[in-house]
Amino acid sequence: MYRTHTCGELRLTHVEKVVTLSGWVQRTRQLGGMTFVDLRDRYGITQLVFDMSLNADLCAAANKLGREFVIQATGIVRERSSKNTQLATGEVEIDVTGLQVLNAAKVPPFTIEPDTDGGDDLRMKYRYLDLRRTPVQQNIIFRHQMAQATRSYLNNLNFLEIETPFLIKSTPEGARDFVVPSRLNAGQFYALPQSPQTFKQLLMVSGFDRYYQIVRCFRDEDLRADRQPEFTQIDCEMAFVTREDVLQTFEGLLRYLLKTVKGYDLGEVARMSYDDAMRLYGSDKPDIRFGMAFTELNQLVKGHGFAIFDDAELIAGICAQGCAEYTRKQLDELTDWVKRPQIGAKGLVYVKYNPDGTLKSSVDKFYSPEQLQTWANAMNAKPGDLLLILSGSTDKTRKQLGELRLEMGKRLGLRNPAEFKALWVLDFPLLEWDEEDQRWVACHHPFTRPRTQNFENITDWGSLRAEAYDLCLNGNEIAGGSIRIHERALQEKVFDLLGMTKDEAQQKFGFLMGAFEYGAPPHGGIAFGFDRLCAIMGGYESIRDFIAFPKNNSGRDTMIDAPSPIDAKQYRELSIQSVIQG
Ligand code: AMO
Repeated sequence: MYRTHTCGELRLTHVEKVVTLSGWVQRTRQLGGMTFVDLRDRYGITQLVFDMSLNADLCAAANKLGREFVIQATGIVRERSSKNTQLATGEVEIDVTGLQVLNAAKVPPFTIEPDTDGGDDLRMKYRYLDLRRTPVQQNIIFRHQMAQATRSYLNNLNFLEIETPFLIKSTPEGARDFVVPSRLNAGQFYALPQSPQTFKQLLMVSGFDRYYQIVRCFRDEDLRADRQPEFTQIDCEMAFVTREDVLQTFEGLLRYLLKTVKGYDLGEVARMSYDDAMRLYGSDKPDIRFGMAFTELNQLVKGHGFAIFDDAELIAGICAQGCAEYTRKQLDELTDWVKRPQIGAKGLVYVKYNPDGTLKSSVDKFYSPEQLQTWANAMNAKPGDLLLILSGSTDKTRKQLGELRLEMGKRLGLRNPAEFKALWVLDFPLLEWDEEDQRWVACHHPFTRPRTQNFENITDWGSLRAEAYDLCLNGNEIAGGSIRIHERALQEKVFDLLGMTKDEAQQKFGFLMGAFEYGAPPHGGIAFGFDRLCAIMGGYESIRDFIAFPKNNSGRDTMIDAPSPIDAKQYRELSIQSVIQG
């Protein structure tokens, strides 16, 4: 037997018992004639004691132990004279009577401690060592608990967990596909699924009216802190449901997860239309832990000789409470911040509503104090507040002001990671303009049900709305879904709207439209970004901290060195003749 207990288990109640532990040597210390070893495993740390005066050979063996050696120790549990209150096992220690080295270890390339000295690259190369560190282990355990709680909630509601294939047909929409060459079908390729979207809809046609899967998805897109080329979704679909049924079911899931995994009571989940979210917060995923909604000032500011405002399509501002005392230096720094290329504003207009009631602005030349007062009133400002105003084209100004709002929220400490506020954003546009391809594409995906079925007389395609919804948590999109099209004719119309020919639609999605002709029930669903949900609920910025073996920013796994070239034989077997140059 390797162990009778774990390294996190022993307490005063075990004193005088003979126990055997196995684990990794975190640290050894020699003090007088004694050697102390901190033995670590997933469950905790237990102190081992070797006494030179009682057993010189054993103590000498302990002195030879290096960091991260794997050992087995047998001994008697004793009460410690100086207790360590930081450790769950800190009231006891083991008087070791037998020691065995199960495996020696090279000196690790970084310290296996909560605060390691290893940089990102090194830790990724030796991810199996990074995963030994307690905070990283905690995150992986947290993810496990989240997955189990998800299954428990959905199983209780009669959902069935059904697996869908990973080798599917390439139908790029949104992101690029990862493709896999087929040896048995020379010159042909599978694609890895960007999501199981079409399969879960087919399962509805098959009568499995409640489906879920905690499933890997693959997208060949540019990476960011909250994006990985392979990531996990809690993917769900329901038949015979209205939008309201879906919203209730899945805000219930979020509420259940927060309660069971974090002991947190989520208050009401707010709802907002996409149009309002953009108008009031300049974002389709507003962080509603704090206010600072936009006020549009066009009516009040135009026609007073200030050309920048006169020429702007939109002039809008936010009120930063208690910031009137910002110094010139702070305001200049904020102006530089909005002018950075990442934000791209041309400038920032401010109005200080001083505590004594006077108003001082960067545009005093054009506006009287009485006029500034009307702005302050419109923005519900109080003496002591600072008004920050941006102008320009509507979409850009909203986006820039949205970024400024988040930044001010951060600076004012209004974005507490221990607080959770969820929001449904509803009625998304059906289509969005793709600048790169210069065409309209589906905003969510082409299977989303449009709110209108008459497209014939539509001139402003951007005004079409869809039965699509996102769930946001603390300003992050954690889930997205929609009520779907379940009739062939409507699906054909939408493909046509997206510029797909009949043949193209048939070739890409004939299987789905065919299925719609054999009794497809009305249905809808949603998918949560599972890694993202874990990271946000765990209070982290990057989803990598919650993935056991993540890829780096260039999509590489530096530990196994993937992707990598394949040999000539593999190329031949896969009928890949040559790589296109240039
Ligand atoms: P969508 O594309 O919105 O919807 O994806 C659902 C959720 O998955 C997460 N997500 C990602 N997480 C990490 N890395 C990525 N590269 C990544 N891309 C997306 C987000 C997002 O909200 N089939 C539809 C769902 C449906 O309609 O039911 C879909 O995939 O948190």
